[in-house]
Amino acid sequence: MTIERVILLLTLFVAIGTARAGIAEENEIVSGQAPRHPAMHMMNDGRVSLDLPPRMRMHQLANMRSHLEAVQAIIAAIAEGDFDGAANIAHARLGLTQEMRRMCAMFENDDFKRLGLSFHESADTLAETLRTRDANASLRALKTTLGYCVACHAAFRQ
Ligand code: HEC
Repeated sequence: MTIERVILLLTLFVAIGTARAGIAEENEIVSGQAPRHPAMHMMNDGRVSLDLPPRMRMHQLANMRSHLEAVQAIIAAIAEGDFDGAANIAHARLGLTQEMRRMCAMFENDDFKRLGLSFHESADTLAETLRTRDANASLRALKTTLGYCVACHAAFRQ
């Protein structure tokens, strides 16, 4: 089969798939059932919604992606034996800095705020532990900090 034919076939499959999904959605809307894929965030999955305005949503997600990057950078620094570097990242990017305190204060939900502050405090504890250059203790502290990521994501959504 020529490459053009393969591309044509793939395009057809995608087009048919999209059309079928569209019809299925329409049927669901007509029959009063919730559509399966659109607006996943509107679904009630048991987490508490923070009811954030659009601007805060974008900001929060960007901040979260930065948290994830920081965790990667911390692990990379530990792997190179650069404990001071890892400690600096833990404090500056995840710790309870003025900026993080200000950001947490913007949320209305008190439980969320408390969890956020405890999370940032745990990152400062992580920074202190990293400065001891004890790899096992550092990994344990990192696990505790990651526990806050996990706990908050299980409890809250935007
Ligand atoms: C105090 C609560 C809280 C903590 C702590 C927290 N997050 Fe989040 N995070 C959220 C919320 C709320 C969302 C949005 C989830 C949703 O609406 O489904 C989110 C979303 C994310 C996303 C998705 C970003 C995107 O662009 O879609 C990533 C990645 C993420 N968090 C990483 C982390 C990491 C890594 C940590 C810990 C180092 C962390 N978060 C700690 C509350 C938290």
